Amino acid sequence: MDKERKLLIAGNWKMNKTVAEAIDLVDGLVRELANVKEVDIVVCPPFTALHAVSKKVLDTQVRLGAQTMNENGYGAFTGEVNAGMLKEFSVRYVILGHSERRQYYAETNALIAKKALAAHAAALKPIVCVGETLAEREAGKAEAVIGTQVKGSLAGLSAAQMEETVIAYEPVWAIGTGKTATSAQAQEIHLFIRETLVQMFGESVAKKVRILYGGSVKPGNAREIMSQPDVDGALVGGAALEVRSFSDIVKNSI
Ligand code: PGA
Repeated sequence: MDKERKLLIAGNWKMNKTVAEAIDLVDGLVRELANVKEVDIVVCPPFTALHAVSKKVLDTQVRLGAQTMNENGYGAFTGEVNAGMLKEFSVRYVILGHSERRQYYAETNALIAKKALAAHAAALKPIVCVGETLAEREAGKAEAVIGTQVKGSLAGLSAAQMEETVIAYEPVWAIGTGKTATSAQAQEIHLFIRETLVQMFGESVAKKVRILYGGSVKPGNAREIMSQPDVDGALVGGAALEVRSFSDIVKNSI
């Protein structure tokens, strides 16, 4: 596929995979995707598997991401993990503000912005998630909600930091439900996000930022969604848990 920006496909493993299972999965992905150079491939295991997976992706085309991080430096934050700790395992990306974090752990746009700044300070690339609920979409508020999330979650980033930031549009109603946005719905919101970035950071920055789609991406719908001009990749949940489905999503996008 001929794209303006290099595609990025990230697997969000969520709270799945023991260390042994994570090793099996990443070994399979490295084998299946060894020759893929056209797409940036990222896997985001749970913290407990990062060390084992980091050894398996060394010198491969697969990059490592984490699913969240704390915005502070070292200190008394029981249960948390900071950017410096992720760097120890050659983590390059970190998902921030996933709708499950917003919903279950009360993450706000202001908190996500702090995390994004802390990630950049450690040279980690944030994948900042935004997306509306079904009720918000049905009330005609999707763009208003997403606009607020984009402005709030990226507040304070410099232009250079924004260029190294990835955005993931994940409509909450499409996550894990088997319902995907149509490619036209995705393109409409992706374009809206890019226009919001133009207002915030200017045209040349906005043109460089990759905006991923997430929500029930599968091998059968990946190509159609990623063929849209402002869709620059995918953030994949359920289908990232199997070698076959994740590697087929990557291969089908090329
Ligand atoms: P899903 O999850 O692919 O299982 O819908 C996507 C995500 O939550 O990142």
